[in-house]
Amino acid sequence: MALRAVVESCGGFLPEKILTNEELATSVETSDEWIRERTGICRRHMAAHGQRTSDLAVGAAKKAMAKAGIGPEDIDLIIVATATPDLTFPATAAIVQAKLGIKQGAAFDIQAVCTGFVYALSTAEKFLISGQHKRALVIGAETFSRILDWQDRTTCVLFGDGAGAFVVSAVEEEQAEGRGVLSSFLRCDGSMVDLLYVDGGVSATQTTGYLRMQGNKVFREAVNKISQAMVEAARMAGIEPKDVDVFVPHQANQRILQGVVKKLGLREDQVISTIADHGNTSAASIPLAFSVAEEDGRIKRGDLIMLEGMGGGLTWGAALLRY
Ligand code: UT7
Repeated sequence: MALRAVVESCGGFLPEKILTNEELATSVETSDEWIRERTGICRRHMAAHGQRTSDLAVGAAKKAMAKAGIGPEDIDLIIVATATPDLTFPATAAIVQAKLGIKQGAAFDIQAVCTGFVYALSTAEKFLISGQHKRALVIGAETFSRILDWQDRTTCVLFGDGAGAFVVSAVEEEQAEGRGVLSSFLRCDGSMVDLLYVDGGVSATQTTGYLRMQGNKVFREAVNKISQAMVEAARMAGIEPKDVDVFVPHQANQRILQGVVKKLGLREDQVISTIADHGNTSAASIPLAFSVAEEDGRIKRGDLIMLEGMGGGLTWGAALLRY
């Protein structure tokens, strides 16, 4: 019996503290005007002292589980996409499992930076349609505030903290009514590691390090790579990008989103943007934007939805689903 990986629900979680552009401009040489014009960002959320990536992940997971009407006994797979784990090991997914009181199944992290959630959803789909697992929590969660160099105005203004989660279930095709993950396209080009990386790590420096980015070079790659991923994911499902109801992109820069809209001939109102309020929350940005749009009614049951991301690696990818 063929199985589909159906997204049942989603949930987002943001730490309480908000950092505005104006506040940032008091500590580095920047301005609200520059940040808004070049990125679209107005504010971002910051994890409190002691608040860990796993805490944000648990907040998002609890909302998604409540919406799906399920409890800890119903989950047998947890995949956390994060580049800012609580600890070097174990996986943040293991910590999330314990905090949620889940006692069965598998749990592991995926590291594909800002493309992490697309990689994680695609991975969960393979586990679910194989029949090996029945119901997954797929989470993107980040505390990028911990790896920012707060003296570097070219990066510290861009990122924020947060988490988003999907509950994804294996459903028999006949019962799925066309819903589920329909295709995914994942890529990496490791020759571009130097464009976006953290300059510390376990085996290299035995430190955590800080995020370093050649922003304009990443920007130049972004529109083409994101467009390629969306065209390919659509092609695999036998459609064109413009046939999609809603696009939920990774939220890196409003100008990148506008470039993709123009290149693929989309309408701006098809594209969910939360960049003004969240900044770039890396692997969390897609499920966070998804949950905002679901709660305000822009995403409805049965919609054809394209997710896309691009980030350090460089990695990029897209996933198409019917919600
Ligand atoms: O999520 C992972 C993927 N990441 C991305 O997709 C990010 C892609 N890159 C970007 O979004 C943009 O490249 C940035 C927003 C990071 C930068 O925008 P840009 O238009 O590419 O600016 P730039 O780096 O070419 O810098 C232009 C100028 C420079 O000054 P000079 O050399 O022209 O005098 C920078 O020093 O803007 C200056 N600048 C700033 N000025 C005020 C850079 N950051 C700031 C700042 N405030 N925060």
